[in-house]
Amino acid sequence: MQKKVFITRPILSDGVEILKTHGLHVETNELPGPLSYEALTIKARGFDALITMLSDRIDSEFLSKNSHLKVISNYAVGFNNIDLDKASELKILIGNTPDVLTEATAETALGLMIAASRNFLTAEKSASLGLWKNWEPMGYMGHGLSEKTLGIVGFGRIGQRLANMCAQAFNMKILYVSRNVSRSQMKNITTSNAKQVSLSELCIESDFISLHVPMNEETKKMIGQNELAQMKKSAVLINTSRGEIIDQEALINALKQNQIFAAGLDVTDPEPLPPTNELFQLKNAIILPHIGSATFEARRAMSVLAAKNISAGLMGEELVSWVNRF
Ligand code: NAP
Ligand code: GLV
Ligand code: GLV
Repeated sequence: MQKKVFITRPILSDGVEILKTHGLHVETNELPGPLSYEALTIKARGFDALITMLSDRIDSEFLSKNSHLKVISNYAVGFNNIDLDKASELKILIGNTPDVLTEATAETALGLMIAASRNFLTAEKSASLGLWKNWEPMGYMGHGLSEKTLGIVGFGRIGQRLANMCAQAFNMKILYVSRNVSRSQMKNITTSNAKQVSLSELCIESDFISLHVPMNEETKKMIGQNELAQMKKSAVLINTSRGEIIDQEALINALKQNQIFAAGLDVTDPEPLPPTNELFQLKNAIILPHIGSATFEARRAMSVLAAKNISAGLMGEELVSWVNRF
């Protein structure tokens, strides 16, 4: 019988074509928004495989009610929306889309570093609101990147790519925290001035701090009141990993009291962040709606990789990018 794949939101068609070439029946949710948790739980009953978004909650209950599923490929590298233990227990294969979005996400982090440190948001608002009366010799001043110290929390694919960009383009000194990476294991880093330090040393020494750890129980609220208090008054904090890595209330307080200079956030807790959230009122915070991987190049490659994961899994092969395997 023809196997069926459900894609929870429309994606670029490259991957859909691959699935069809493999003889699979493909259905995409074409509604303007996502299905509710309850609706997706019921919908999934009619399919063998799913391509899910990071915003789909694939928890233990969902998986138990859909234990017939063979494979789920998350349209993301992060998979903290999926109960991996439960999926493995039920022998449901889980895939993700690493590497192909590394460049796009590192570029987003770099863009936020510049936008936050140079007050782009305040400056743009002042120009567009008609408050641009004069060229301001003392206005909008921020911190440059050249020769500064960048602290990377989570020295994996995206963290190392950002480190390279910043070392090469701005001659920045790199500090990083990681559990396992030793210099000899590093494949991607081409800069010679990267140093492994403790989180506290990183917070104290860095001019820019960028978060790239996956979200799990160990990394949740890894950046809280203590870490923020250790940072320089001129520090710029960037988060393109997951909102929950930062204690957001502590960050709001730190920004309000100008304990740090600015924050650039592509991810928040929760998502979407309600427009009434205090973060939107702060002049020294830039909030993006989780667009880290949103380049045509990355999204096309993610579409292809997700589809290859699904077709491999349904053919009984190991996923091209597996999160669990049996
Ligand atoms: P990755 O290659 O797995 O890198 C994550 C790094 O964090 C690894 O080197 C890991 O090293 C390290 N790490 C894990 N737990 C740690 C801890 N407790 N302390 C210190 N280091 C720790 O993943 P990636 O591809 O760079 O992606 C990173 C994250 O970015 C994803 O999980 C996702 O949440 C987020 N992301 C967001 C966007 C966006 O749109 N904003 C796009 C892509 C990715 P060890 O495990 O060896 O210690
Ligand atoms: C995006 O946030 C991802 O994890 O790919
Ligand atoms: C600025 O526009 C300058 O010319 O310095």
